[in-house]
Amino acid sequence: MNTAIQQCINPDCHATYSVDEVHVACPRCAEQGISSLLDIEYDWDRTAAPKSLDYFEHRWMTKGDKGEGTLDFSGVWRFRELMPFFNKPGDIVTIGEGRTNMQNAKLLAPYIGLTPGNLYLQYEGLNPSGSFKDNGMTAAFTHAHMVGAKRVACASTGNTSASLAMFASLSGMTGIVFIGSGKIAYGKLSQALDYGAHTLQIQGDFDACLRRVQQIAVDRKDLGIYLMNSVNPFRLEGQKAIMYRVLEALDWSVPDWVVVPGGNLGNCSAFGKAFSELKTLGLIDRIPRLAVIQATGANPLYELFTQKGLRWNSGRYDQDMVASYYAQQDDAKVFADTIASAIEIGRPVNLSKALRALDVMNGVVRQVDDPTILEYKAMVGRYGFGCEPASAATVAGAHMLVDEGVIGEGESVVCILTGHELKDADATVKYHTGIDMKSVQDQADRTTPTGRWSNQPISVPDDLDAIIEAIGGEHVEDVSTSSDAGQLEDMPVSEY
Ligand code: F0G
Repeated sequence: MNTAIQQCINPDCHATYSVDEVHVACPRCAEQGISSLLDIEYDWDRTAAPKSLDYFEHRWMTKGDKGEGTLDFSGVWRFRELMPFFNKPGDIVTIGEGRTNMQNAKLLAPYIGLTPGNLYLQYEGLNPSGSFKDNGMTAAFTHAHMVGAKRVACASTGNTSASLAMFASLSGMTGIVFIGSGKIAYGKLSQALDYGAHTLQIQGDFDACLRRVQQIAVDRKDLGIYLMNSVNPFRLEGQKAIMYRVLEALDWSVPDWVVVPGGNLGNCSAFGKAFSELKTLGLIDRIPRLAVIQATGANPLYELFTQKGLRWNSGRYDQDMVASYYAQQDDAKVFADTIASAIEIGRPVNLSKALRALDVMNGVVRQVDDPTILEYKAMVGRYGFGCEPASAATVAGAHMLVDEGVIGEGESVVCILTGHELKDADATVKYHTGIDMKSVQDQADRTTPTGRWSNQPISVPDDLDAIIEAIGGEHVEDVSTSSDAGQLEDMPVSEY
């Protein structure tokens, strides 16, 4: 008997749904014209949650490539008792995600005003597809597998599409990704193409892509497409594991601060849920503070939370304030615009959950501009393993908060570096040499690719009918039945 349910986060609704159903918003609220997100909730008294976090250490010895060992090998599923929404271990889709490093950045710490030994960098770029998204994708693919999905889709600023494409190809599902034309870094585009996803370049930005993919996955259920964006509550269950690994790397002690970039606001939402549950379970005695850092050119949470004072208010947050802020942005034709393309998002879908996380973690929100992001990205490259621009916003934001006296120089600070340095090599080369590789490439002569595995992106206008036609209408090729599909029997998916 599954102890997990899906539950509406609106305190005036709290409707519940089985985990065997597929929703990305509460159907009951939708009937009243309200858009409310769902959570995965557990009846913890009936789960096998451990009494202490060091319980998980025995798995360091058991990891292998068979049965439970496959799960112990994953940096997400070795914490499976803290996300027990699956019916049986065989439901789990894992590719060995979450085996990431935390660095004690002693050389960098003084540059941002912290005592050496107090700055930690959590390198989520070391995931198989090069970003933190794999933590969430393994959980969402597990749910997709539970409900028998064959086609999965997302809108993306690049990393979600790379991760989705990798998981889709390895689990025999058809991947469809929507990206804003000219909006994503080449490293990320190259991954979606290489992993064989149907790659639609929409004439529009991320926010337009997300509206379209929701239309095809949610409004057009007949197309049978499972939505993988972070409005999918199962994604966030997997992303909780980033925090479990942070605690693990600190020998199960709680840092003073967690600093994370904010785009669609799924990651910070997952962190808030992780700590709230750990506290409820008595597995930690205090909750760290949260700092969400946005780019100045894509800063709705900063504007609403820090400037206008929007608060969670036990779930009854001021939705009129949000609506009028977005209306003003629309009237002024303000679109998200930042060098940190991963977080170039103007209408974050997880805004409500982010407000809740800020409440649970006594959080703050700051913004940093593009030149500052690039300076701190270079510092992470100089004194660490490097990261992509959006990730460096954390280090820049941490320094700002130390200067403000919000973070004390003796406090411990964990900055989440969400994406690998090689995701956006163009930004790095331009910073160091002044050469804009992207414009050079745009002018280069093109030939029609003829390789057997060539997978060209498809340019599509921001138009629903054109999009449905581009994905083959109701007949998207199902890779799980094509002759080129991997030998599923040989894969670590539902092997036991
Ligand atoms: N950092 C990186 C490298 C990202 O790719 C993203 C989001 C974020 C931070 C922001 O995380 O959305 O949970 O607040 N990228 C998404 C994508 C939107 O499509 O790849 P968030």
